[in-house]
Amino acid sequence: MVSYKELGLVNTRDMFAKAIKGGYAIPAFNFNNMEQMQAIIQACVETSSPVILQVSSGARKYANQTILRYMAQGAVEYAKELGKNIPIVLHLDHGDSFELCKSCIEMGFSSVMIDGSHLPYEENIALTKKVVDYAHQYDVTVEGELGVLAGIEDDVKAEHHTYTEPDQVVDFVSRTGVDSLAISIGTSHGANKFKPEQCTRNADGILVPPPLRFDILKEIEKRLPGFPIVLHGSSSVPQDMVAIINKYGGAVKDAVGIPEEQLREAAKSAVCKINIDSDGRLAMTAAVREVLATKPAEFDPRKYLGPARDWLKKLYMHKCESVLGSAGKA
Ligand code: G3H
Ligand code: 13P
Ligand code: ZN
Repeated sequence: MVSYKELGLVNTRDMFAKAIKGGYAIPAFNFNNMEQMQAIIQACVETSSPVILQVSSGARKYANQTILRYMAQGAVEYAKELGKNIPIVLHLDHGDSFELCKSCIEMGFSSVMIDGSHLPYEENIALTKKVVDYAHQYDVTVEGELGVLAGIEDDVKAEHHTYTEPDQVVDFVSRTGVDSLAISIGTSHGANKFKPEQCTRNADGILVPPPLRFDILKEIEKRLPGFPIVLHGSSSVPQDMVAIINKYGGAVKDAVGIPEEQLREAAKSAVCKINIDSDGRLAMTAAVREVLATKPAEFDPRKYLGPARDWLKKLYMHKCESVLGSAGKA
């Protein structure tokens, strides 16, 4: 058993309390390789932002959980070396079983999500409570989820949103003891968050998605005043990145994300954690495609992964400074 405290990591408790008071959200950036981790830390040190390093079960399988643990430990030291001891959380994204959450806690994770959102309500409560009871013994914080996002969430594909039911949130939070709650108000995972027929088009022909359900968010806030709320599926799918990918041989079609102004608005509320993965994937792919297409003789991975890391850093800095408002809050 390794405690996250020995690794220099923190849980989400203080971070979220400050974020709600301050009207900003903490970035939760997914990572599974070194360049992503370096870009996240460089961006958050440079903007002085607290950060959540987020590991999905797919990432854990891809990179190996021991390696990821040491990378997070390395991230703490790297931030100090870059000159700023920013608060860093190591968080399990979409944990789907008690055993997985327990294993991550034993490995040094400081926060876990138990995602029982696809289960019947009472089963979601029972599973979430079991994880909370275990995690709290080690001062590890727990995120639960109520409501189902449309799109692909782990291996489960949902055709339509099942918005979070405000009348359930008090019961869920009090019976499980979770530290934060992920809700469904119209965000969605991946780069194709909405079908073109669900969107309108602006004057430039760009797809405009239906607005987030701020009315549901308000109802939830009314029932759980000051309680930390989490938004998944919050990539904005930058169209310049999509255009570069497609210019250099890619085929990312009808990609549409959540407009940044709406995320900025949400960050001012009790939403204090915003999950971003797909935007990083797009930036990295765009950079790699551009280098490989314009410098076909290049075969040193550092020559395309280096620019990919720079593009990622720029993207993450933009999120902290102009979307989430977390810059300067470390
Ligand atoms: O919510 C899902 C995250 O974007 C992680 O995706 O399971 O492909 O690593 P992944
Ligand atoms: P995106 O696919 O919108 O980046 O969402 C990521 C996410 O919610 C990870 O849990
Ligand atoms: Zn998610």
